[in-house]
Amino acid sequence: MALYIKAAEILQKAEMKQGALKTLVYDSKFPSIKQLFALVCETQKFSSILQEIIESTKLLKHTKLKMTLAKVLVYDLLIGQGLKCGGTWKAKMMKHRPRLQAELARMKVRRKVSRNEDLLPASAQQTPGDQLPRYVRMNTLKTSVEDAVDYLKRDGFSYLGQALKLDNLTLKNKDFVMDLHLPELLVFSPKTEFHDHFLYKAGHIILQDKASCLPAYLLDPPPGSHVIDACAAPGNKTSHLAAIMKNRGRLFAFDLDGKRLATMSTLLLRAGVTCHQLANQDFLKVDTNGPQYKDVEYILLDPSCSGSGMVCLRDDSAAHPEEEKARLASLASFQLKCLNHSLRFPRLKRLVYSTCSIHSQENEEVIAACLQQNPNFRYLLCKCTSFLDSCQNNVPFHMLSQCHPHSICLFFSALFTFYLHFSFNLCVFDQFLCEKSSWDR
Ligand SMILES: C[S@@+](CC[C@H](N)C(=O)[O-])C[C@H]1O[C@@H](n2cnc3c(N)ncnc32)[C@H](O)[C@@H]1O
Repeated sequence: MALYIKAAEILQKAEMKQGALKTLVYDSKFPSIKQLFALVCETQKFSSILQEIIESTKLLKHTKLKMTLAKVLVYDLLIGQGLKCGGTWKAKMMKHRPRLQAELARMKVRRKVSRNEDLLPASAQQTPGDQLPRYVRMNTLKTSVEDAVDYLKRDGFSYLGQALKLDNLTLKNKDFVMDLHLPELLVFSPKTEFHDHFLYKAGHIILQDKASCLPAYLLDPPPGSHVIDACAAPGNKTSHLAAIMKNRGRLFAFDLDGKRLATMSTLLLRAGVTCHQLANQDFLKVDTNGPQYKDVEYILLDPSCSGSGMVCLRDDSAAHPEEEKARLASLASFQLKCLNHSLRFPRLKRLVYSTCSIHSQENEEVIAACLQQNPNFRYLLCKCTSFLDSCQNNVPFHMLSQCHPHSICLFFSALFTFYLHFSFNLCVFDQFLCEKSSWDR
């Protein structure tokens, strides 16, 4: 029953806008995160249908259950894999099962559909998350791409070489390719499962979306450099930075949340990272003139954000507009403070700013305000064709830089997560590559 109680608690918090679904699941420290995550995502997807069934069968009145708990239980009873609890809860639900099933059947007849999935609005029947390939980053601190590919081939996967165009990322069964842009990234068919795989458990591979790989890739700190990961937990980007630095140099990683930092410590240990120094500290209170940071030239800033760009976690339930506005304003203010603070490190050369938000308040507007307050940064505007606007309009994409004397570059890599799979971002990404190759370090 613990699974259902925890899932209901998370859905309740998400409804009250107390955090993004993924963060709430992650922070719950539930022993089976994957199972919990699947249950909350699916229950949320079917939420309106479950609510209709619960209301028309008067389940809450009969069982004294709260709505969110009723939803997760009814989801598993009618749509999921069957109830995974015993005792009085199961007995209670089983007693009402015939009426619940009958209501679901009536609903399907009314809507002239045969499958549960068909009850969902067209937009929800297949989420973008269902179509996205599974990206896996090779942890070059522990393995090489060649060795990992060989291992996977021996394990029954079929390697199709490097992807040359977007279409090559539409993969089936056990086929996999090397990513178009990042050679350390292998791409598998959607939902390919690696959590129990030896390579994952041994820290040879990291399950990390392409969007999440871009910030460290763009920051590109050389081995031996001094780097800050300002808001670091749970640490996938930190481990990526360490791999790029070949574990040489100093990697200062901060996070305010002790629990997330503890998880991060385990992750870094498994990934073989040794050049890091973790601090459970408010990044905004880090002394930018501290002697230990005097050689910091690279900063990765991935601050807390609304998470509105996370494909499989998008929560489209109507938020109260005023509350949503206030929440975004507060996040944007924090993000701007972090940016301004980062720019105070005396030897800073390059900074990557990333969010997984699709809100301009957390992206363009933060960057614009930062520019205004730091006039020594130059502004470059990249134009690219937008998939989102039916490939018609040019969407401005912002990149800030100050080339002399210390070639400071500030990237705005937001939007990547949400739209990653579509040509929009790959197009933007190409622009980055062009710019990147022409930088003078
Ligand atoms: C988007 S997450 C970072 C994800 C991480 N970069 C990764 O790739 O795994 C944002 C993190 O910022 C942390 N955070 C929030 N406020 C902070 C602050 N003032 N100082 C340091 N960390 C903070 C949160 O605890 C959270 O772990």
